[in-house]
Amino acid sequence: MSGKNYGFETLSVHAGAAPDPATGARAQPIYQTTAYVFEDADHAAALFNLQTVGFIYSRLTNPTNAALETRLATLEGGRGCTVASSGHAAQVLALFPLMRPGDDIVASTRLYGGSIQQMRNTYPKFGWTANMVDADQPENFKRAVTDKTKAFFIESLANPGGVISDIEAIARIAEDAGVPLIVDNTLATPWLCKPIGYGATLVLHSTTKFLSGTGTSMGGAVVDSGKFDWARGGKFPSLAGPEPAYHGLNFFETFGDMAYTFHSHAVGLRDLGPSQAPFNAWLTMLGIETLGLRMERHCANALRVAQYLERHDAVAWVNYAGLPSNKYHSLAKKYLPKGAGSVFTFGVKGGYDVGVKVVDNVELFSHLANIGDAKSLIIHPASTTHRQLSDEQRLAAGAGPDVIRLSIGIETADDIIADLEQALAKATA
Ligand SMILES: Cc1ncc(COP(=O)(O)O)c(C=O)c1O
Repeated sequence: MSGKNYGFETLSVHAGAAPDPATGARAQPIYQTTAYVFEDADHAAALFNLQTVGFIYSRLTNPTNAALETRLATLEGGRGCTVASSGHAAQVLALFPLMRPGDDIVASTRLYGGSIQQMRNTYPKFGWTANMVDADQPENFKRAVTDKTKAFFIESLANPGGVISDIEAIARIAEDAGVPLIVDNTLATPWLCKPIGYGATLVLHSTTKFLSGTGTSMGGAVVDSGKFDWARGGKFPSLAGPEPAYHGLNFFETFGDMAYTFHSHAVGLRDLGPSQAPFNAWLTMLGIETLGLRMERHCANALRVAQYLERHDAVAWVNYAGLPSNKYHSLAKKYLPKGAGSVFTFGVKGGYDVGVKVVDNVELFSHLANIGDAKSLIIHPASTTHRQLSDEQRLAAGAGPDVIRLSIGIETADDIIADLEQALAKATA
């Protein structure tokens, strides 16, 4: 695939995969394999010394996973990638080379609820702190920086509120502070937005969602731009100093723009262990082959549904950045010019009771806790994902009693709208 300036759809189908050299098989084989035979003792030593690239044990590297890693790095315009067992595992893996006990990150308050939960309650057990700021004002990141800050963390398009971050502005502040900007690009996918082009250092994915695309496979990924100077300011000793976890190897000196990705495999996956199952990597590779086609339909359908709901008498508000009335519409035009994704929220008149009745009356939509499936999905956060929170916490999280979250699938748009029409009619009868 090298040397040619292929388009996104071509790369989605071909990057990372070629006919199998052993058999000629055209589809990417699944290497459902734990370990790999060494040629001889010298080869084994060279692999363990990271002097040659190859496969040792599938907790660290696997040929099917490697194919997915190449595909994702290519699509995001990055240098390297590490796949993980889930999006949440990828988040821990992403921070692991950067952080020590006592360090902090500055993160947006408007992240996916599960990420906020991970940062507030689990990171402190590692001695990490997340200072949460309103990302609508990029200057808030500057104000929150301490001498222990090791990264900024945002979502390009946030789940579920459709909040769009000004990636370029926040990347500039990160650059001034000498820290990498990490962007969770799960909802946008590289088809809608490529954060590295706006200055992001690391791009994260829950590949569980649109990349695998059909609700079959948990997975996560960390893509490294390869552009960050890990030696700057002496902030990142695991990457740019002698790493005790790998017999004193200086990864940045040895591997340059691949330092972060080598460290993530050789130390992160080795010691934390959240490797992706090769079968999931294989399903995700297949999913990515149709990413552009699906995203185009997801976005077109979502816009039609949002326009329909905006006109509906039983609907109090619609929060979709693709609508000109939306607060984030101008940021959407800049960062998501091909469409504002397919996940958004709306509010029903009548609050909690009507919200519950809507999800109870849908027929085509599936009532479940996921997004990014080819099938249309619906959830009423106040009675499900956010039910343990107080009323105030629910409101702050954008999960008030009237809120319904949709993940619009790729079915026929008229059928999706007809299903909402009948469910809203029954809920408000
Ligand atoms: C934006 C975002 N990031 C991360 C995650 C976590 O991903 P996973 O469920 O694959 O661990 C999710 C899950 O919904 C998500 O929506």
